[in-house]
Amino acid sequence: MAYQSTFERSIRQPEAFWEEQARAVAWFRSPERILFKDEQGLFRWFGGGRLNTAYLALDYHVANGRGEQVAIYYDSPVTNTKQQITYRQLLEEVSLFAGVLQRFGVGKGDRVVIYMPMVPQTVVAMLACARLGAVHSVVFGGFAPRELAIRIDDAQPKVLITATGGIEVNKVIPYMPMVNQAWAEAQHKPEACIVLQRPFAEAKLQPGRDFDWHVLMAEAQPASYVEVEATDPLYILYTSGTTGRPKGVVRDNGGYAVALKFSMQAIYGVQPGEVFWAASDVGWVVGHSYIVYGPLLHGCSTVLYEGKPVLTPDAGAFWRVISEYGVSVLFTAPTAIRAIKKEDPQGALRQAYDLYSLRYLFLAGERCDVATLEWSQSLLGVPVIDHWWQTESGWPMLANSVGLELLPVKPGSVTKPVCGYDIQIVDAEGRPLPPGQEGIVVVKLPLPPGNLPTLWNDTPRFRQAYLEPFPGYFFSGDGGYADEDGYLYITGRIDDIINVAGHRLSTATMEEVIASHPAVAECAVIGVHDALKGEVPMGFVVLKAGVQMDEVQLEKELVALVRQKIGPVAAFKQAVLVKRLPKTRSGKILRKIMRNMADGKEFTMPSTIEDASVLPELEASIYARRT
Ligand code: COA
Ligand code: AMP
Repeated sequence: MAYQSTFERSIRQPEAFWEEQARAVAWFRSPERILFKDEQGLFRWFGGGRLNTAYLALDYHVANGRGEQVAIYYDSPVTNTKQQITYRQLLEEVSLFAGVLQRFGVGKGDRVVIYMPMVPQTVVAMLACARLGAVHSVVFGGFAPRELAIRIDDAQPKVLITATGGIEVNKVIPYMPMVNQAWAEAQHKPEACIVLQRPFAEAKLQPGRDFDWHVLMAEAQPASYVEVEATDPLYILYTSGTTGRPKGVVRDNGGYAVALKFSMQAIYGVQPGEVFWAASDVGWVVGHSYIVYGPLLHGCSTVLYEGKPVLTPDAGAFWRVISEYGVSVLFTAPTAIRAIKKEDPQGALRQAYDLYSLRYLFLAGERCDVATLEWSQSLLGVPVIDHWWQTESGWPMLANSVGLELLPVKPGSVTKPVCGYDIQIVDAEGRPLPPGQEGIVVVKLPLPPGNLPTLWNDTPRFRQAYLEPFPGYFFSGDGGYADEDGYLYITGRIDDIINVAGHRLSTATMEEVIASHPAVAECAVIGVHDALKGEVPMGFVVLKAGVQMDEVQLEKELVALVRQKIGPVAAFKQAVLVKRLPKTRSGKILRKIMRNMADGKEFTMPSTIEDASVLPELEASIYARRT
C-alpha cells in the first residue's frame, strides 16, 4: 500500500482513518465518539469504547489459537538463563498475579510502582495491573532511591513491586537497600512491597511490609480481566522534563492499543506470529511499547533480553539472539550499534550466525550518525531505519513506514511523518519554515491515538509544556528541518534535555544536585559529544567566594553525589572548575556557547553577552581539563 495516499488520508480524515484502524481491536464495546474533547478541553480518542489491554494481549490470543505460541523468549546471558513462555503460560501467570494484587486491595485506577530488572515477572506485573484496570508506573533500575521516592510520591501507589537484584554485565546491583532508602525518603508509604527473590541476591525481607513473590503466587487465585474505558489510564511513565521534577506521562488504554497494533504492521512491517525484538529496557517507553504491549497485542513473540550488546559475553550477542529466535525486526539505540562496532569493527562475530530471518533494523532514542547507520546496513544487509519518537508519543512520529511502503533510506534522515502526525517545522514565532531551514518540530493538533492525553495530576503543566508554546500545535522540544523531498532531519533537543546512550536525562536535575554541594556557588550542566554514548553530561562549576578546592577532588565528590541522587544512568563523570559562567545581561546562562566550546566547534559571540572576557577564561579551563 502506498505511503503517501495512506498518510494523506490519515491527516485529511483522522476520524474515519482511526475508526478503521480501531476495528483491528476486539473491543468489549465499540467506541461511540472516535475523537472528542473532554471536560478539560483536551483531545481524547475512542470515547465510550470499552476494552482491557491485558485481555487483548493474552486471553484474546489464547482464545484464537495462539495459546501454544511463544509469547516471551527470555534470554539472560547475565544469569545464564533461557526460558520460553507461551501465551497460555503467560496468561496463567498474569491471572494469578492479578489475584495477588487483588488480595492487596489493588483495583481499577489504583497505582502500582514497579522497580524491576529485565525479568519475565516484570512483564507479568505490568500485565496484571492492566488486567485489573490498575495503573502501573515502571521505574528504570538505573535510577537512584531519591528518583524512585519522587515517583512514589507523585504516583501514590498502593503496592510497590521489586526484585532483590539485577546484574549489570558481571556486577550484582542489590535493589533492596535502594528500595529501603526510597521507602524512607518518600512521604507516601505504599501498603505493601512485593519482592521477587533472585538467587544471586537473596535478601532479608521486612516482616509486615515485604511479601515474597513466589509465596504469594503459590497461594493465589486467578483474577479475571476488568473492563475499562478507552480513556482510562493504563500507565504513567515518568520522563525527564526541563525542571528537576520528572513529568508523569499518562497513557490511555484504547488509543494506545489501536496505535500500537497499527504501528506493528504499518511501521515495522511485522505479522502476527513473527518474532519482534526491542533491545531496550522495560523502564523506558521503548520497553513499554515494543517489548511488552506492541508485540503482544499483535500476537508476536517478543524477546526479553537481560544483557548488553557487548561484554555479555561479546559483541556477537545481538547476532546470536537474532539467529537463535528467528527475529524478524530488531529495534535498538544507535549507541548499542556503536558499542558493537567499537569492539568488533569488522563485524567478524556476525559471520558465525545465520541472520536469514532479519528483515529490518530500526534505530531510535538519539540521533543516529551516518557512519553507524551505514556500518550496520552493510554488516546486516537489511534496511536500517532511523525513526523518531518520544515518551510523550508512545509510538513513532517520524519513520520509514515499511509496512506501508519502504521508501528510499536517506542516511541522517528519519524519513517522513507517520500516519496521523501532521508534523511541521516552524520558527520561534510559529511560522512555517521552507525546506532546508532548521527550526522547531511541532505537531498540529489533534495528536493521533496513543499520545499522552495529559500529565499525571498536572494538566496545567501539560498545557504549559506542550500546548502553550505554539497554540494549536504540540511542542516536541526537538529541532529539525525538512529537505526538498519532504524527508525530515532531527538536529537535537532545543531545551535542557540530553540523550546519553539513548537515555533521556535532564541537565536541570543534575544542576540541582550539583548546586546542593556545600562548595558550589553556581553551575551549569551541558551535553557534550561522546563517540560511544552520543552525548555525555559535563558540569561547569563556580565555587563559593572564599572556598578553595582542588578540581580533581571536587569532581570526585560531584560525580559521587550525582550517582547517589540520580543514579549511575546519568553517567555524570566530568566537572570543570571555572571562575565564572557566560551569561546574558539578563542573567541567562549561555549554554550553547559552552557546548560548542567543549565540542571544539566554532561559535559566534552573542550580542547579549554580559561580559565577553569570560569566554577566553572558559576556553582555557576546558583546554586545561582536556589535556
Ligand atoms: N540498573 C542499574 N544500573 C544500571 C542499569 C540498570 N538497569 N542500566 C545502566 N546502569 C548503570 C551501568 O551499569 C553504568 O554504571 P557504571 O557507571 O557503574 O558503569 C551506568 O548506569 C551507565 O550505563 P549505560 O549508559 O548503559 O552505559 P554502559 O557503559 O554500562 O553501557 C552501552 C553502554 C552502550 C552498552 C549501553 O548504554 C547500551 O546498551 N545502550 C543501549 C541503549 C538503550 O537500550 N537505550 C534505551 C532506549 S531505546
Ligand atoms: P525518550 O522520551 O526517552 O524516548 O526520548 C525522546 C527524545 O530522544 C526525543 O525528543 C529526541 O530528542 C531523541 N530522539 C529519539 N529518537 C531520535 C532519533 N531517531 N533521532 C534523533 N533524536 C531522537
